[in-house]
Amino acid sequence: MEPSPRREQDRAALEAFLLEHNALRVARHGELVESTDHPALLVWSEEEVVGVATYVINGDDCELLTLHARSRFQGTGTALLTAVQAVARRAGCTRLRVVTTNDNVDALRFYQRRGFRLARLRPGAVDENRVELKPEIPTSGAYGIPLRDEVELHLDLVEHDGLHQGVPVDAPGNTVDVPVSRRPNG
Ligand SMILES: CC(C)(COP(=O)(O)OP(=O)(O)OC[C@H]1O[C@@H](n2cnc3c(N)ncnc32)[C@H](O)[C@@H]1OP(=O)(O)O)[C@@H](O)C(=O)NCCC(=O)NCCS
Repeated sequence: MEPSPRREQDRAALEAFLLEHNALRVARHGELVESTDHPALLVWSEEEVVGVATYVINGDDCELLTLHARSRFQGTGTALLTAVQAVARRAGCTRLRVVTTNDNVDALRFYQRRGFRLARLRPGAVDENRVELKPEIPTSGAYGIPLRDEVELHLDLVEHDGLHQGVPVDAPGNTVDVPVSRRPNG
């Protein structure tokens, strides 16, 4: 699974994929941007787009704007994230950042498992985006969690040099021994 940069002829397929995932317009930190105005990496299966990452490079900072996989848990998201990191490093970026939302606990897990650190919390920012920028943002998010706040995560691209990308969940030794607490009077 090798993500490839968007080509001019990919525009229609890219737009259809982003529309399907409600990601044509991205509202974060009080600004609305069109994701198709920015570079994208695509994962194809046969003739079909099955994953997309869009990003913005600004000096030594890279923002991951959107990241979506059509079928989850098949490595598409990891492949795209790894490819964006490589592009960002080649462009001289020292930091990759992403804004997600308070309900997206799967993404919070996904990014933290891959080296991202929690950097900022903007309470009520999604509520403000809904009123001011993007009325189609639902009020209820993943798992029925009220969708209200922005959470920004950062990956230090210097510290994470790209040599240790794997997170083998089932690899031997990748478990944590939790000490069993002693019962009082036990
Ligand atoms: C976040 C997202 C891009 C991840 O893409 P993905 O292709 O599913 O990611 P991967 O397959 O590479 O990894 C998925 C994780 O699920 C785990 N997984 C595998 N099979 C699983 C299963 N049956 N059930 C639950 N988790 C499973 C993988 O081990 C991996 O977990 P890890 O973090 O512990 O390694 C994808 O879930 C998505 O499109 N989400 C909706 C959009 C979104 O929230 N994007 C981020 C916005 S900022």
